[in-house]
Amino acid sequence: MQAIVLVGGEGTRLRPLTHRTPKPMVPIANVPFLARTIERLYAAGIRDVIFPAGYLPQSIIDYFGDGSRFDMRITYVIEKEPLGTAGALKNVEQYIDGPFFVLNGDILTSLDLTEMIRFHREKGGLGALHLIRVDDPSAFGCVAHDADGRIRQFVEKPPKGSAPTNEINAGTYLLEPDVLAMIPAGRNVSIERETFPRLLSTGKMLYAYTTGDYWIDLGRPEHYLQAHRDILSGAMPCIVEPGISGAGAQRLMSNAALIAPVHVDEGVEIDPAATVGPNVVLGARCRIGAGALVRDCVLWDDVIIGERAVVEETIAASRVRIGADARIGPGTVIGHDAIVPAASVLAPGSRVSATAEVTQEK
Ligand code: GTP
Repeated sequence: MQAIVLVGGEGTRLRPLTHRTPKPMVPIANVPFLARTIERLYAAGIRDVIFPAGYLPQSIIDYFGDGSRFDMRITYVIEKEPLGTAGALKNVEQYIDGPFFVLNGDILTSLDLTEMIRFHREKGGLGALHLIRVDDPSAFGCVAHDADGRIRQFVEKPPKGSAPTNEINAGTYLLEPDVLAMIPAGRNVSIERETFPRLLSTGKMLYAYTTGDYWIDLGRPEHYLQAHRDILSGAMPCIVEPGISGAGAQRLMSNAALIAPVHVDEGVEIDPAATVGPNVVLGARCRIGAGALVRDCVLWDDVIIGERAVVEETIAASRVRIGADARIGPGTVIGHDAIVPAASVLAPGSRVSATAEVTQEK
């Protein structure tokens, strides 16, 4: 079994984090998300992975190389222009020699891939699509199926109250190679909007694999923070230990500043007169000054928070510096190397990058 992980998107909604880090490499509890995806594929027995990439591919290549460090074979296919979620599959057709998984590179889920393989073998057809149930399907691609699981209809982003079902496309597919013959070559094609509906209209059988797994699309800053809250609470299982966790936890265990759950990498320095937590992830070598308050935040490596600064519900990329007495409002996203001067007050939802003015979220 092979897997194609779609890693070519620009991740516009996560800017400025994605100005220098492609979305699949954004850290989840201090490990690039794509490395966690690779671990899941490995656990399901998959050793042959293809990355259709295009946006900032070098950082992906630098981290994974040929895959041998992960006991995997990794093939990169770089798109000159984005080919879309199906065009990217067509573009790697020459490497496919049997049924294959397709994973969106930005979905955090507890889905058991081995079970999904079993389901597909049992059902047959051209493919199985992972679905999950949501309260409000209006922002998603809805997938209606019959009692036997055969998919009958795709409805993209139905107006509120008009959705035929609350089951949505969860971004993991297990497909037969014949699907690739249905995708036109050389242009941008969306698997959700074009290929899947086309397969149905030509009578092909696709099956719904609906589970109650944890699932979140990391594509928006608020979802990225929510994913971390869920990881820290254990709602998304098996990523961190409860309480104070991480490579730097042992050394900070008796630090009075920490309010669990908190996840810390190596080399982190926290003044005991600070307040850090709950729901905080600190990357390697972060430093938190005396009197600072850091709550519901994900700070990447080497972030420095000055004395008495208040930082809440904020994401800061590597090497961000926040000056003393600054107040950073909820929903703020700060890009790599940005400096927030002492005593600054940032409104909720601010976007800050090293080279640009502070902007407000639209
Ligand atoms: P936004 O710009 O914020 O919408 O994000 P995105 O385009 O990076 O991600 P989106 O949620 O639209 O796409 C889902 C997955 O498909 C992500 O893992 C993307 O990396 C990937 N993807 C989207 N478009 C392409 C593409 O044209 N080529 C490749 N190879 N991957 C893509």
